[in-house]
Amino acid sequence: SSPHLPEQDAILVTGGAGFIGSHTVVQLLSLGLRLVIVDNLCNSSEEALHRALELAGNKGELFFHKVDLLDGAALEKVFELYTFSACIHFAGLKAVGESSQIPIGYYQTNVTGTLNLLQLLQRYNCRNFIFSSSATVYGLPSSTDPIREDASLGALNPYGRTKQYIEEILRDIANSEPNQWNIIMLRYFNPVGAHESGRIGEDPNGIPNNLMPFVAQVAIGRRPVINVFGNDYETPDGTGVRDYIHIVDLARGHVAALNKIQSFSMGAHTSVHNSNGTKSLGCVPYNLGSGIGYSVMDMIESMSKAVGRQLPYRVIERRLGDVALCVADPTLSAHDLDWRAEKTLQDMCNDLWRWQIQNPNGYEARVATAASGT
Ligand code: NAD
Ligand code: WQD
Repeated sequence: SSPHLPEQDAILVTGGAGFIGSHTVVQLLSLGLRLVIVDNLCNSSEEALHRALELAGNKGELFFHKVDLLDGAALEKVFELYTFSACIHFAGLKAVGESSQIPIGYYQTNVTGTLNLLQLLQRYNCRNFIFSSSATVYGLPSSTDPIREDASLGALNPYGRTKQYIEEILRDIANSEPNQWNIIMLRYFNPVGAHESGRIGEDPNGIPNNLMPFVAQVAIGRRPVINVFGNDYETPDGTGVRDYIHIVDLARGHVAALNKIQSFSMGAHTSVHNSNGTKSLGCVPYNLGSGIGYSVMDMIESMSKAVGRQLPYRVIERRLGDVALCVADPTLSAHDLDWRAEKTLQDMCNDLWRWQIQNPNGYEARVATAASGT
C-alpha cells in the first residue's frame, strides 16, 4: 500500500543514486510519490536515476540536486524549494577498510553530514526520518543465535562506529522533543543482487570490498579468481556465514518503514498511540535481514549455478575484523512493519548475474559508449 502523504509534499532521499537508494527510488516512484534526491555522486551515477524512472514506468516525480551534505548552504537551498513530509537518509561512505585509513573523512561525511541534514529537517519542520544503519553496529555477536535489535552494540571499525554514533544521536534528538519525531533506524544485513530487469545494480569503484560484487566480476572475467577469506571459522563449512538479502526486498523495507511512520505522523492528529501511549514513534531500530545464514561456499555455489559453470576460487587467510557469523532475527520487523524478505538466494544470484552481463562495466561505460555514438 502507498504511504498517503500530502500531495504537495515530497520525500527527501539523500544518496538516492546509490545502490540501495536507486532500488528504493524505483519502489517509491511506483507508488506515485514525489521524490527529491540529493546526492554528490561521489560513488554513483545519475544514470541510475534515469533508469529508476524508466523502471517505475514514469510514475511519480523525481527532482535531482547534485549537492554534498557537507555543504550546508547548498543543502538549505533544497529545503527552500520543497516541503518534505519525510526523509530517507542513505548518503554516506561505506567502505570498512578505507574507514580505518581515513577516519576523519568517514566521521565528517557520515556524522557531520547527518547532523547538517537533521538541523535543516528540524528547522524546516520535518521530523519523519529513516536512517540507513547497519548490522555492523552489533560487532562481535555474543552467541550464534540470530541477532535481535536489543542485542548490545559494539562496532569494530570506524565505519561501524559512525553508524553506532549516529544511532545514539538520533535517540538524543527524539528524546529532546517528545512526541515529535518518528525515526526508524534500519539495520541492513548483507544486501546483494539487482533489480530483476538487470537495468540497475551495484557498481563499485575499483576492487570490490564485498563478496558478491567480487564474485560477479570473476564471473564476467574482469578478475581471475574468488578469494575465500578463511575456511577455519566455527561454521558448518568453515567459511563466514552472513544474512544475505535481495536488494529489492531491502528496498521494500523502506516502503514498510514509511508506512509505519505515516501511521504515527497521522496519529499526532488522531487517536493512534504507540504501545507506550505516546503520540510518536520516537526512535526505533529494525533489522532488515532474512533470518537465514549462508556461507561463502553457498554463495559461490549459487552464483555458479546462475552463471552456468563452476566459478574458480581459492582459500586465503582470514580478513582482519571479520566475524564468523552474522544473521538477523527478523521477528520485530515482521511484526511491527509487516515486512519480510521474500526472494531466494537463487533470485539474488540470477538477478546479480543479469545486471552484470548486461552492464559488464557498470553505468559509466554504457553512458560513455552512448555519448560517443558507438
Ligand atoms: P552507495 O555508495 O551506493 O550509496 C551512497 C550514496 O551516497 C552514493 O550515491 C554517494 O554518491 C552518496 N554520498 C556519499 N557521500 C555523500 C555526501 N557527502 N553528500 C551527498 N551524497 C553523498 O552505498 P549503498 O550500498 O547504497 O549504501 C547506502 C547506505 O546504506 C549507506 O549509508 C551505507 O552505509 C548503508 N549500508 C549499506 C550496506 C551495504 O552493504 N551496501 C549495508 C548496511 C548499511
Ligand atoms: C561477506 C563474507 C567475508 C569478500 C560488510 C560490512 C557491513 C555491511 C555489509 C555496510 C565474509 C567473505 C568477502 C571476498 C570473502 N556494509 N568474503 N571474499 O563483511 O559481512 O559486511 O558489508 O554497512 O558493515 O562490514 O560483507 O561482503 O565483505 O563479506 O571470502 O572477496 O564473505 O569474509 O564472510 P561483510 P562482505
